[in-house]
Amino acid sequence: MADVLKGLNSLLVHEGEAPDPITGSVTPPIYQTSTFAFPTNESMADFMNEQKAGYIYTRLGNPNFSVVEAKIAALEGAEKCLVVSSGMAAVATALVAFCGSGDHLVAHADVYGGTFGLLHDLLPRLGIETSFIDLTDPAALKAALRPTTRTVYLETPSNPTLRLADIAAIADVAHGQGVTVIVDNTFATPVNQRPLALGADAVIHSGTKHLNGHSDVIAGAIAGSAEFIAACSDVARKLGGTLNAFDAWLLGRGLKTLGLRVQRQNENGQAVAEYLAGHAAVAEVLYPGLPTHPQHALAQRQMKGYGSVLSIRLAGGTSAVDRFLDRVQLFGRAVSLGSVESLITQPVAAVHRFVPPEFQAMGGITPDLVRISVGIEDIDDILSDLQQALA
Ligand SMILES: Cc1ncc(COP(=O)(O)O)c(C=O)c1O
Repeated sequence: MADVLKGLNSLLVHEGEAPDPITGSVTPPIYQTSTFAFPTNESMADFMNEQKAGYIYTRLGNPNFSVVEAKIAALEGAEKCLVVSSGMAAVATALVAFCGSGDHLVAHADVYGGTFGLLHDLLPRLGIETSFIDLTDPAALKAALRPTTRTVYLETPSNPTLRLADIAAIADVAHGQGVTVIVDNTFATPVNQRPLALGADAVIHSGTKHLNGHSDVIAGAIAGSAEFIAACSDVARKLGGTLNAFDAWLLGRGLKTLGLRVQRQNENGQAVAEYLAGHAAVAEVLYPGLPTHPQHALAQRQMKGYGSVLSIRLAGGTSAVDRFLDRVQLFGRAVSLGSVESLITQPVAAVHRFVPPEFQAMGGITPDLVRISVGIEDIDDILSDLQQALA
C-alpha cells in the first residue's frame, strides 16, 4: 500500500490502516480495552524483556493510537508521532522530554494562553526558565540565547495575533548554538505548513482543532525523530496523559477529511479576511493571506495556504466587541478553532484572560481584538452573518 500512497488525501485516508484481518471491517475496530492478554506467561516475559512492538496496556499504547500516529507522522514528514490526551499534554510532554532543571527556553508572548501558563507559571517550579521575546525577528533570538538554552518554542501563525516566525531562519540560529526548535503547528496544519522540512526538530498539535475538526475530541500529538518520540513516550507513560481508544478513533476519522476541510477553510478564511478588510467598522485584520500582513512575503514562502483563523480589531473598541459578539448567529461564541463550524471569541475575556497585562501588551492582545475561526459553511452565509452583526 505504501507504494501507491503519494498524495496528501490518499495518505490521510489509508495510512496506518487496512481492512480488519478477522472481519474485513473497512474501518478500524475500536479497541476499547485497558489491557492486552498474552498466550503464555513466558511470551509475556519475553515481550517485556525485548521491548517488542505490540500492545500491553493502553496507557503504553493501543492499536487506535497507532493508526493516528502513522497518519500524523506521514503528514508531518516525521519518523514517528505520539498521540496524547490533549494539546497541552503534547506541549508539556515535549518540553519535559527536552528540558530539565537549570535549562532555559525561549518563546514568544502571544502563544496560546494555556501554553503561556505552563511556561510562565509551572515550568519555573521545575527549574526551567522561559524568556519571552519577539520571534518575528530571528536576530532577537540570537541575543536571547544563553549557554543553558535548550529549546526555542514557537507557534506560527501565533494565537491569537497571527504573527509568523521564520522557521528556517530560527532553526539556523538555534542549531548554530545546539538549541532545538519546537513548532506548534496547530493553526497552520501540515496541509498548509511542514515545519520539519523547514528545519524544526519537533512539531506539536492540539489534535482538538483542525486534525479532528469536529469539536468532539480533546487530543494532542507530537511528531519528530524516532529518538525524540521515544523520549516523549517515556515521559507520557510516566506522567500518564494518555489518549483513549474512542477519542483516537474519532481523531482518525476526522483526519481522513483534513485535506478537504483545510482547503475549504483556506478559501473561506481568505474570503472573510478580504471582506472584513474592506468594512468600515473594522480597524485592522490580522491574516497572513492578506498583502497588508507585515509578514505576507514570509507566509507565501513558508505556507501553502493561510488557514481558517484570523483576528480583527474593531473601530468602535470594546463596546463594539460586545455588540458584535452578541449579534452573530451562525458563529458560535466559543473558544477553540479549526472545526467545521465557525467560532468567535474575545481573547482577553477567554483564552488569554490569565496572561499578565504586560505580556498581553507584548503579544498585541488588546481588548478590542476578536478571534474568528472560519468553518466550512457556505461563504455567503458566513459573510451575511458578519454583515448583519457589524451593521
Ligand atoms: C495553538 C494551540 N496550542 C495548544 C493548545 C492546547 O490544546 P488542547 O486544548 O487540546 O489542550 C491550543 C488550544 O487552544 C492552541 O490553540
